[in-house]
Amino acid sequence: QERSFIMVKPDGVERGLVGEIVSRFEKRGFKILALQLIHPSAELLQEHYKDLADKPFFPKLLAYMQSGPVAAFVIQGKGAVKIGRVMLGATNPQDSAPGTIRADFALDIGKNVCHGSDSVESAEREVALWFGDNIKSYSRAVDNIIYE
Ligand code: GTP
Ligand code: MG
Repeated sequence: QERSFIMVKPDGVERGLVGEIVSRFEKRGFKILALQLIHPSAELLQEHYKDLADKPFFPKLLAYMQSGPVAAFVIQGKGAVKIGRVMLGATNPQDSAPGTIRADFALDIGKNVCHGSDSVESAEREVALWFGDNIKSYSRAVDNIIYE
């Protein structure tokens, strides 16, 4: 089943939003496959955000993402990537729909509280980058109730 890489950014961790954000994905029905508080290195973040290396805000983005630990986790379930993005809301919280995480907890694009993979391909890349082989599948009885 589809997986996505979700991360509570340092501002979200510092503001005590880890539980709230993980909880939203749990309640939606996604299975949490991995979950870890990480102090990311500059190298890891450069690799994670390598598609943005040429952007003017890239140095600011790296400093932001290294300002404290992040809470990295993997969700698995039907439509994980697309639904993950919808639940996060637009990149700029000023444009995020009400009820999304960014709209409910953020105001600035440079402090937008969370990350979610933008495609199935980047999800697989990011899961491997952040968790390597440290992911073990498990079954849940509740999947028989969540899925038709
Ligand atoms: P992520 O889930 O974090 O990857 O966000 P995204 O996919 O919605 O947006 P994108 O990958 O284009 O940008 C990555 C992150 O860079 C954003 O989440 C913002 O934190 C930051 N960012 C993007 N655009 C800007 C900008 O114009 N200014 C600043 N300061 N930060 C930006
Ligand atoms: Mg992105």
